[in-house]
Amino acid sequence: MDILTASGVTVAFAGLTALEDVELSVRPGEILGLIGPNGAGKTTLTNVLTGFQRHSGAVSVDGRDVTGWSPQRLSRVGVRRTFQNVRLFGGMTVAENLHAAALGAGLRRRAARRATTELLDRADLGSLAEVEATSLPYGLERRLGVARALVGDPRYVVLDEPAAGLNEEESDELLRWLRAVPEQYGCGLVVIEHDMRLIMRLCDRLHVIDHGRTLAVGTPAQVRADPLVIEAYLGAGHA
Ligand SMILES: Nc1ncnc2c1ncn2[C@@H]1O[C@H](COP(=O)(O)OP(=O)(O)O)[C@@H](O)[C@H]1O
Ligand SMILES: [Mg+2]
Repeated sequence: MDILTASGVTVAFAGLTALEDVELSVRPGEILGLIGPNGAGKTTLTNVLTGFQRHSGAVSVDGRDVTGWSPQRLSRVGVRRTFQNVRLFGGMTVAENLHAAALGAGLRRRAARRATTELLDRADLGSLAEVEATSLPYGLERRLGVARALVGDPRYVVLDEPAAGLNEEESDELLRWLRAVPEQYGCGLVVIEHDMRLIMRLCDRLHVIDHGRTLAVGTPAQVRADPLVIEAYLGAGHA
């Protein structure tokens, strides 16, 4: 059974219910957009899916119950993430960043070297391998951040606002590359993003949350036309 699911997920922070009875699923090969206003619970759900947040309810990976597993253990069964503000390893080249990520994902030295070469190639960063990572233009820095999460061919990768702070051109370029990732790597992506222009073109399916609850799930066209979504989130101007 190839699917990552969260079911009946509830998270409360000192009196505030950040998530309430949320069901989410994504399959390898699919890009699922997770959207909702600020404070809706998107990052919290990301944390739940990747082992960074205690919760009630369950998470399963390919039919296996992984509720309560640590991020490290989840990474080993192929669940990865990027963080909202990507931090690349400073003082390291592009290639060294990928190599360090490969070692961090538990690959042995030879496998890590092989994975680095392969990722440089697939992320089109080969000509920049020896460049200091933090001196990359923002768009490429983000791509490297995502590529690090793809080391060792994970099953599912959760990207928390990968295009935040990018200009339109950089964001379009990231979109073109991301669009090809599920097929190239055989993984499913969950993408949190504020940029509706990007999300509508990138995603196969959208999951909308608002105040910690699921508001709508469907194709971008279905979600865009959903009256609840229009009212609560997109606003009449975007409809
Ligand atoms: N560690 C925390 N402690 C207390 N409240 C939190 C914590 N993390 C998030 N929250 C609250 O939970 C809600 C959901 O936050 P978050 O998941 O970051 O939303 P989003 O990513 O959609 O903007 C917000 O009201 C936020 O203030
Ligand atoms: Mg967030």
